[in-house]
Amino acid sequence: MDSLDILDEALGRPSVIVDENKLSIEYLPRHLPFRDDQLKALAGYFGGILYGQIGTKRAIITGPVGSGKTSISKKFGQWLTQKSKGLGKEDVRYIHINCRRSKTPFMILLNIARELNSKIASRGYAADELLEMIVEILEAEQSTLVLVLDEIEYIIHKGGVELLYALTRTSDDRHNAKHQIILILIARNSHFLKYLDSSTTSSLGAPIIPCPSYSKSQLEGILKNRIDECFRPGTVTKETVHLIADIAEKRGGDARHALELLLIAGKYADQEGSTIVYPEHVRKAKANVDPSLLRDALQDLAVHKLLLLYGISKKLRQTKAAYITTGEAEQSYILAAEEYGLKPRKHTQVWEYIQELELLGIINTEKSGIGQRGNTKQISIQDASAYELEQELIPRLETISISFRK
Ligand SMILES: Nc1ncnc2c1ncn2[C@@H]1O[C@H](COP(=O)(O)OP(=O)(O)O)[C@@H](O)[C@H]1O
Ligand SMILES: [Mg+2]
Repeated sequence: MDSLDILDEALGRPSVIVDENKLSIEYLPRHLPFRDDQLKALAGYFGGILYGQIGTKRAIITGPVGSGKTSISKKFGQWLTQKSKGLGKEDVRYIHINCRRSKTPFMILLNIARELNSKIASRGYAADELLEMIVEILEAEQSTLVLVLDEIEYIIHKGGVELLYALTRTSDDRHNAKHQIILILIARNSHFLKYLDSSTTSSLGAPIIPCPSYSKSQLEGILKNRIDECFRPGTVTKETVHLIADIAEKRGGDARHALELLLIAGKYADQEGSTIVYPEHVRKAKANVDPSLLRDALQDLAVHKLLLLYGISKKLRQTKAAYITTGEAEQSYILAAEEYGLKPRKHTQVWEYIQELELLGIINTEKSGIGQRGNTKQISIQDASAYELEQELIPRLETISISFRK
């Protein structure tokens, strides 16, 4: 066989996966099983928009990573857009913003403005000017904007509180406003509410739509549906589906993790020239996929928060305890900062970092039991083992600290 034949063969080798796009995170499946109640709630609260009726103006969707929050809101957006087109209405807009990617209120407003009018320049405006432009566009169109702010906890400590305040007031502050902004906030849980001032919380006054984590059998159902959509028939065994669902259930019922494992296991099967995806391919995939929460969350943390997390995981590993106190965490952070040649931040700052890491769901904190000092909290790490986390952090810290010393 010559090289061209080898290339031909490589191309011709059938993959177990027929359509890889449908396994990507961006893909919105036709059907979202086990989420009927949540979809009905969205239609119930906001469906009236289609007939010019505004009832509820806000809602909060909560649930752990991979519980379908983003998917249900996008599905609702798809439905709303299709319906309003069908009714010949042009005054209903749906915009979905991911706050982890957009990072700042400015970026969020810029993205909204540019979705409303793609001609708006990406430079040269201040945040309040952008908000004004958004309101002007909506007023001129007399539209209702359904604005989804996904992963809202990522901007709470970066000006998100003020942003939410401003967004809840646009039509209230205007005499005879012709536009409306409906806000749908998505978060892991409702903890972020405690950072909002009381007037924002009360004007939010929002019903909560919970997305509980998926059970093992629900994960199996989701996997089977997706396998039918994207795999060659008969290539994924029952045991394989069981194993993936089992792993993903233990990872907090995370459907994203399940689908990721499925894709990678499929690729391993292809690589080995196997026409069947076996449990062994899943085990291999598992060893190579980190939990999505951790990876996403660590990516965006600044160096001192990484150091604090490193300090916490190191201490937890060393003491083999389930919890450490905030005092111990701070001490361990100071040592970590010294280890990497950086000057530790002050106590109040460290306290803020702890709260932020908790809001992002990376650490858990609990009030200490009786006998401890008043303000002490206990810290634990739930989503990853301390050892895994430490190993994940070391290379990141090394890269960062080298760039700091330059
Ligand atoms: N009920 C469901 N049916 C089918 N796929 C789902 C379902 N829930 C989640 N998924 C899939 O799992 C992944 C994670 O879902 P996502 O909506 O992003 O979760 P979250 O926003 O809660 O983290 C996506 O790829 C999505 O397509
Ligand atoms: Mg999401």
